[in-house]
Amino acid sequence: MNPGKFITLEGVEGVGKSSNLAFIAEFLRAQGKNIVVTREPGGTPLGERIRALLLDKNATTMHRDTELLLIFAARAQHLAAVIHPALRAGQWVVCDRFTDATYAYQGGGRCIEPQRIAQLETWVQGDFRPDLTLLLDLPVATGLQRAAQRGEADRFEQEQQGFFERVRDAYHQRARLEPARVRIIDAAPALEQVQQQLLTVLSLWLE
Ligand code: TMP
Repeated sequence: MNPGKFITLEGVEGVGKSSNLAFIAEFLRAQGKNIVVTREPGGTPLGERIRALLLDKNATTMHRDTELLLIFAARAQHLAAVIHPALRAGQWVVCDRFTDATYAYQGGGRCIEPQRIAQLETWVQGDFRPDLTLLLDLPVATGLQRAAQRGEADRFEQEQQGFFERVRDAYHQRARLEPARVRIIDAAPALEQVQQQLLTVLSLWLE
């Protein structure tokens, strides 16, 4: 058993992950937890280089299997170099996206069979899974409008609305499969109301 906890934050583009991630980390620190904040793809020097490849909007010919394998390559490095050592040391790890994003984007978005993702998940992670996943949920059109205000689109952000509708559906499917782990947070209202929901879920979960 790991002494630390592994919490992940998920959602389609424009749901407000960044500000809510900072809020979650701050709340947990106030509870006396020693927090490491990290992200995927990335989280290590090598993983950040893989991230740059994945997000490069000029990499238009990247095969979906190449994309999937790069994501798990970055994840293997992240687990070995950051996540497992931190948890073993008793730290709590708050991660901006993890393998639920792979089921959503590569499974839902790119239409890769979930069984193939599950094989890689088992290979790279064994039975390691997040302790808690907070899924920020918003109608796709609203999220894309918000994301469009952030500047130049990366390779994923250049996808059409239908891609993101499949991503959102696949996230909902993850929540249906594992309702105790994956908690849906309504990201449509004002930030304070979203944070109130996060506080409620986290406080109950910590009890
Ligand atoms: P970000 O926008 O949250 O920083 O994530 C970068 C992009 O990477 C985002 O468009 C979703 C994508 N992604 C996947 O396609 N599969 C994954 O497994 C992960 C972790 C991210």
